[in-house]
Amino acid sequence: MRNASQHGQWSSRLAFILAATGSAVGLGNIWKFPYIAGENGGGAFVLIYLLCILAIGIPIMMAEIMLGRRGRQSPINTMKDLAAEAGASRFWSWLGWLGVIAGFLILSYYSVIAGWAMAYVVRLASGVFEGATADGVSNIFGQFIADPEKLLAWHSLFMILTMLVVARGVKGLERAVKFLMPALLVILILLVGYAMDQGAFEQGVSFLFKADFSKITSEGVLTAMGHAFFTLSLGMGAIMVYGSYLPSKVSIGSTAVIIALADTAVALLAGLAIFPIVFANGLEPSSGPGLIFQTLPIAFGHMAYGSFFGCLFFVLLVFAAWSSSISLIEPAVAWLVENKNMSRMRACIWAGLVTWVVGIGTVLSFNLAADIKIFGKTFFDVLDYLTANIMLPLGGLCIAVFAGWVMSKENSAGELNLKRPLIYSGWKILVKFISPVAVIIVFLKAIDLI
Ligand code: PHE
Repeated sequence: MRNASQHGQWSSRLAFILAATGSAVGLGNIWKFPYIAGENGGGAFVLIYLLCILAIGIPIMMAEIMLGRRGRQSPINTMKDLAAEAGASRFWSWLGWLGVIAGFLILSYYSVIAGWAMAYVVRLASGVFEGATADGVSNIFGQFIADPEKLLAWHSLFMILTMLVVARGVKGLERAVKFLMPALLVILILLVGYAMDQGAFEQGVSFLFKADFSKITSEGVLTAMGHAFFTLSLGMGAIMVYGSYLPSKVSIGSTAVIIALADTAVALLAGLAIFPIVFANGLEPSSGPGLIFQTLPIAFGHMAYGSFFGCLFFVLLVFAAWSSSISLIEPAVAWLVENKNMSRMRACIWAGLVTWVVGIGTVLSFNLAADIKIFGKTFFDVLDYLTANIMLPLGGLCIAVFAGWVMSKENSAGELNLKRPLIYSGWKILVKFISPVAVIIVFLKAIDLI
């Protein structure tokens, strides 16, 4: 197999950790996790999500990095080559295609929400939230998403920013994340401090950590599992393509654990910052995608230097989204460069255009097309459900099956290069049996078959 990718390589283990953590930590942690936890009753959902990270997320992340590094190409070509190496069907390359399509679909709505965060940078800087009430903040949010032109403009700007970075390769971002990720963490801790002081902290904590299983449905379990994939960027080739740029010596196991821990810590901190404010202001934890845009500005509106910190918070959120969005499109761009003989720039323009057009559907689903429903869901809800709850777990399932059943032991053990044989056996049991069975059971349960 190859020693290096034609697209380049991370300069160090730390660079990979930062890039992969940059991919994992994003809107999923700060925007999505709190609102889906809120919609699904809190504690029990959080517990299931944590279990999924441990039993499914970490082993599949190791598998995905391992496959990427062994194939050293875009996920489509990596899967094709690895299948050939293992003497398996070439249909495995479809796994790469599934990922490329999921990446387009996720980025198309991700960019719209990241656009909201950009708009909030400007709003906080202008001080409109100073002294605002919960109602006032909700009204500002309601008016904002009712305006398709504004949403479209911010979506377009975010797409341009994303494609600019991807066009240059990931070196620039490598430098940026080194500073941004720690800064995001500090601001989050500050916000948790505010929530402790001013919010209904105990109520928030018990909502997040007290498991009441009567509140959980099989649909909720599927959402928790889907979110474990989403938040760790698994099942669509993002981590695989980042793995393909990983130097050969780096140990995959400990690296994957660090990334998963960092990602989980950010999500839990976000929950601890948000729910106390929700309860102290009589807001609904289940108010959906607008949750952080309707809660955090209240806190910032009443904090000393709140406009400044608020502005900074949304800047960092945009950066977190930015470092995730580049990984969503990288598999497609890498494939266009490898197979269509395109320059990176040209590949970016094409991939970016397709994503931008699909994103218009999400923009409209919050206003003009809010009443158009497919199976009772808006276009945005359909995309979110289809990608996070179906495509990513399905992709992850195939990755686990390939790593556990199709790839030879010499190859997987050689590539993973784990220090202790016991850890390898543990990983193997997880990807071979536990993760696939868990994903299948949750799927069947969600469609009411068991
Ligand atoms: N992990 C990112 C987040 O939590 C989203 C993402 C999903 C990025 C899949 C890449 C691939 O926001």
